[in-house]
Amino acid sequence: MKLYIDSANIAVVESLLQTGVFYGVTTNPLILREAGVRWNKLSDFAEYALGLGAQEVFFQSWGEEAATLCRHGEQLARLSSQVVVKLPVTRAGLEAAAKLAKAGIKTCLTAVYAPFQALLAAAAGAAYVAPYLGRMNDAGRDGHALIAQMAAALQKTAGLTEILAASVRSPEDVTSLAQNGVRNITLSPAVAEKLFLEPLTLEAVKAFEAAAQELQNE
Ligand code: E4P
Repeated sequence: MKLYIDSANIAVVESLLQTGVFYGVTTNPLILREAGVRWNKLSDFAEYALGLGAQEVFFQSWGEEAATLCRHGEQLARLSSQVVVKLPVTRAGLEAAAKLAKAGIKTCLTAVYAPFQALLAAAAGAAYVAPYLGRMNDAGRDGHALIAQMAAALQKTAGLTEILAASVRSPEDVTSLAQNGVRNITLSPAVAEKLFLEPLTLEAVKAFEAAAQELQNE
């Protein structure tokens, strides 16, 4: 199981990476803007996250044409061999992804809503495909069923493309995704924090601590 933090907020990323349960960090332009990380600071951000133990950092390329997406993708990949380049699963994004994959650059096709798009990503040689679970549900589709279909189709076609589920809204979503064969999940800090807040666990720990204190005082 690989869990990622979907944030570019340094303090949040640092605190969550310290838990040792997150494999990497994912971002997109909206997340970078929210955290105030400008393009010229991406290198610093990647260095920082990798220094804290992240194994992969995702940055999203930008531009309308395939050539532009490809050029920016190459720039992002040059920041570190541990950078994965995200691209939208559009015609231009797929074309850029195919070119980057041929150059040995790891890519992730993102904003995926339909199973056939996962297969397009696989055909383009992407390392990851990122379906948006919560947004599929918001749009009235059955996100879990669609992602399960993607996982089954990718497994049957025996490619190297893995699902990286995004737009995950609850700890229960994490379990259902894993049950449906998803091994990579990125989580907003809010959902990530909820993973550590199972009330019955906290209650049990409180009782352990109280007993431990009493033992110390005896
Ligand atoms: C992925 O790139 C997005 O940042 C994210 O998963 C969107 O999540 P949301 O739909 O809960 O906002």
